[in-house]
Amino acid sequence: MSDLIRNIKGTKDILPLDSKLWLETESIIHNFMSLHGYHLIKTPVFEKTELFNRSIGENTDIVNKEMYTWEDRDGTSLTLRPELTASVVRSFIQNQLGNLSPIQRFYYIDSSFRRERPQKGRQRQFTQYGVESIGSHNPEQDVEVILIAFRIYQMLGVNDLAVNINSIGSKESRLNYVVDLKKFLTPFKNKLSDISQSRLESNPLRILDSKSKKDLEIIKDAPLISDYLNEKDQANFEVIQNLLIDLNIPFKINENLVRGLDYYNGMIFEIISDNIGAQSALCGGGRYDRLVEQLGGKSTPAVGFAAGLERLMLILKEQSENLDYSTDIYIISSNEEAISQSIVIADILRNKLGIKVITETLRRSVRSQMREANKINAQFVIIIGQEDTSNNEVIIKNMKDGSQINASIDKIESYFGVDYEYK
Ligand code: HAM
Repeated sequence: MSDLIRNIKGTKDILPLDSKLWLETESIIHNFMSLHGYHLIKTPVFEKTELFNRSIGENTDIVNKEMYTWEDRDGTSLTLRPELTASVVRSFIQNQLGNLSPIQRFYYIDSSFRRERPQKGRQRQFTQYGVESIGSHNPEQDVEVILIAFRIYQMLGVNDLAVNINSIGSKESRLNYVVDLKKFLTPFKNKLSDISQSRLESNPLRILDSKSKKDLEIIKDAPLISDYLNEKDQANFEVIQNLLIDLNIPFKINENLVRGLDYYNGMIFEIISDNIGAQSALCGGGRYDRLVEQLGGKSTPAVGFAAGLERLMLILKEQSENLDYSTDIYIISSNEEAISQSIVIADILRNKLGIKVITETLRRSVRSQMREANKINAQFVIIIGQEDTSNNEVIIKNMKDGSQINASIDKIESYFGVDYEYK
C-alpha cells in the first residue's frame, strides 16, 4: 500500500455528519443578511500581497508572520487572503461601486488563511462570514453592524455572549495616546512579557490586549484612550451606546480592546463566548474610515465585522446533538429487476414530490437493506419484488408505527402525494 497523504496541519475536512449543520447555518446567515439589505460579494481567494500589507498593516501579526505568500512566475508577490475586508474594499474601488449608490452593503461567507498555531477554534484555513457597509460615517451604521453580528448568534440560540466595545478615535487622537502610552510603559519595559517588549516599539497599542498576567498588572494603571477622544468621536460613541441600550443589546466598554488590524478608527467591537476555549472571540469588527482612500479610492467611510464560522460551529454542534438526519423513503429491492424499477420510482418521487429517497445499489439481501433503512432513520420503506406480492405490487411500510400496506406500483406516487402529511 502507498503512503497515506494527509491533509495539511490546521485545515479540516467537513464530513457529511457535520455538513448538514454547516449548510443550515450558512443558509440562515444568507437569509439574515438579505433581511438587512446586504448583498453577497465574492472575491478571489488570492490577491497581490501589497493589498494586505497596505491595509492590515506592516506591523501586525497577520502581515508579519501569518500570511501565505509566494512569488508568482512573473515575479508578482501573491497572498492567500487572511481576511476579506481588504479584498472587498479593493473590489468596491475597482468596480466603482460607490457610483451606484451612496451606501453599499456587502456580506460574504468565504475561506481565509492564516499561518497560526492550530488549536481548538484556530485553524490555518478557516471560514469568515461578515459584512462591510461602505458609505455612512454615522453611528447608526455602526450599530446596524453590531446588531447583525449579535442577532445572528441570538437567532441560532447561542447565549452567554459578551459584546465588548471601545472607541479608538481618530488617527490624531490615537497618535497622541500612543505617545503617552509608550511614556507610561517604558519604565516597566523589563517587566513586560517578551512579546509586549517587542511590541513596545512596533505596535504599543497591542500591548493593551495582552493576556499575560504580568502585562495586565502593569496595564491596569495605563492612561485610558477615552481621555484622548475628540468631541465628535465621543459624541458618536455615546449615540452608539444609547442605541444599543434601546435595542436591548447588552454590552461592556472595554478600554483595552484594540483589535489586531491597523485600519480601524472610532468604534471597534468584539463578541466573546466562554464556550469555545482560549480562542474566545467569535467575531470582531469596527469602523475603518480611511481604508478606501488608503487603497486608492475616494475618501469613503466604512464599518464592518467578520466572524469565524468554525468557532460558531463548535458551539452549535454541542447544542444540536439531536439533529434530524432522517431519510424520507428507503426503497428495498429484492432482486435486480426490482433495483431498476426502484431507480425509476425514486426519480419520480424526488422530482415530482421533492421527497428524499435512497435506493439500493449494493444488491444486498432484503435483511441487510432493512437494517440500513433503520440505520439511516428512514420514515418509510418501499419493498419491491417480494415473493408474496403479486406483480406490480409493492409493500409500503411506515417505520414509525410498523404498519404496512400493499399498493400497486403506479399508486406509490399518489400514496405519498396525498398521504405524505401523515408522516
Ligand atoms: P479578525 O478579528 O482578525 O477580524 O477576524 C474575525 C474573526 O475571524 C475572529 O473573531 C475569529 O472568529 C475568526 N478567526 C480569525 N482567525 C481565525 C483562525 N485562525 N481560525 C479560526 N477562526 C479565526 C477581521 O478579519 C476583520 N476583517 C473584521 C472586520 C471586517 N473588520 C471590519 N470589517
